Amino acid sequence: MMIAQLRLIEMMSPHSYIAVRKVLGAGSGQESPGFNGLLRVAPDLGAAMQGVLKRAGTDALTVHREPTKYPLLYQLTECVLDFDELFQTFRYQHIMLVKRIIGAGTPSLKGKPTELLERSMRTPFYPDLWEVRETMFADFVRGESLTKK
Ligand code: HEM
Repeated sequence: MMIAQLRLIEMMSPHSYIAVRKVLGAGSGQESPGFNGLLRVAPDLGAAMQGVLKRAGTDALTVHREPTKYPLLYQLTECVLDFDELFQTFRYQHIMLVKRIIGAGTPSLKGKPTELLERSMRTPFYPDLWEVRETMFADFVRGESLTKK
């Protein structure tokens, strides 16, 4: 929902935003309790998912190689990946909003540069789940699925 709603704020002209910025003080999205809450629980969610996989005697790569054998575990890993993807999507949309309204080079009201946002956007919560794809396609041989039993 928030990703869709950001689009509305993105439509604000730089000219209109000057009036908003004048009264914002030195607040920052970095102080958002909701955002920081998500940052806090994300590692716990990853650990809980790894625990479930471990207790089932498997791992994310195996589950992805045979999704029909592990339907629930597959769903679990995909839901966790959804969370990661949506969080990164929010960050990306927010950077585009920042660039569009105040420009990439303008420091925030806390004096922090936008580059900080670019760096954190490239850091997923669960790199293992993204790497599963690379591993699977590194092994991929063209035409193999047609000939293999
Ligand atoms: C005109 C609108 C906006 C501008 C110009 C803007 C600008 C910025 C800038 C420059 C930063 C990084 C530096 C700092 O935190 O001091 C930042 C961080 C942040 N902003 Fe915004 N922002 C805007 C709207 C929003 C909205 C609507 C939301 C949430 C719905 C939001 C959420 C955040 C969050 C969560 C962070 C921290 C990100 C992180 O630490 O990775 N911002 N914002």
